[in-house]
Amino acid sequence: MLIVLPEVLLAEDVARALRELDGAVWRDGKATAGPAARASKDNLQARGMEALGAFVRDALERHPLFLGAARARRISPIMFSKYEPGMRYGSHTDDALMGAPEARLRTDLAFTLFLSDPASYEGGELTIEGPSGEQAVKLPAGDAVLYPAGSIHHVAPLQSGARLAAVGWVESYVRDAGQREILFDLSQARSRLAAAGAAQSEMLRLDKAISNLLRMWAET
Ligand code: NI
Repeated sequence: MLIVLPEVLLAEDVARALRELDGAVWRDGKATAGPAARASKDNLQARGMEALGAFVRDALERHPLFLGAARARRISPIMFSKYEPGMRYGSHTDDALMGAPEARLRTDLAFTLFLSDPASYEGGELTIEGPSGEQAVKLPAGDAVLYPAGSIHHVAPLQSGARLAAVGWVESYVRDAGQREILFDLSQARSRLAAAGAAQSEMLRLDKAISNLLRMWAET
């Protein structure tokens, strides 16, 4: 399942991120690619930027759709990537495990938060293979997409402009994608019923069901 998270960052936050990245030192993205992805990766990554990364991570952790869809146990450090004309990230699948042994994270989900105005660059679509074919994703600045890290995906060659994005991975409390989808559907229904003024007694029953499924499925 692929989920679009609108407005993770507001316009002024995107502007701040772009300002900070303007002064960043960029290095070859191959330096942080796993063995499987290295050959197909051709982009740039910002060095440092931990404070900006933490800012993006906090914004993500407050987003209601992210909370319902990811059930995040841990989130990787955020990386900032840049594609210039001719750069791309060929078809690959993300490493299942990332990080140093003492901080190892299982990558259940990947996310890309778009930072550049989509009208300012051509190409650079994040393209994800799923059961119903390929989906090409190019979102307004500040929006993010959450997708299975185990999917085959690529970033199409950039034709013009510059494409900046924040990327990272999530280890979920709920390892199984089907179980996560059930919890997501129920939490979506819950927020719509709450907005429609459903009876408190029924909301409580729904909360109980969601919590008990989480108790059944969560790994702690
Ligand atoms: Ni990837």
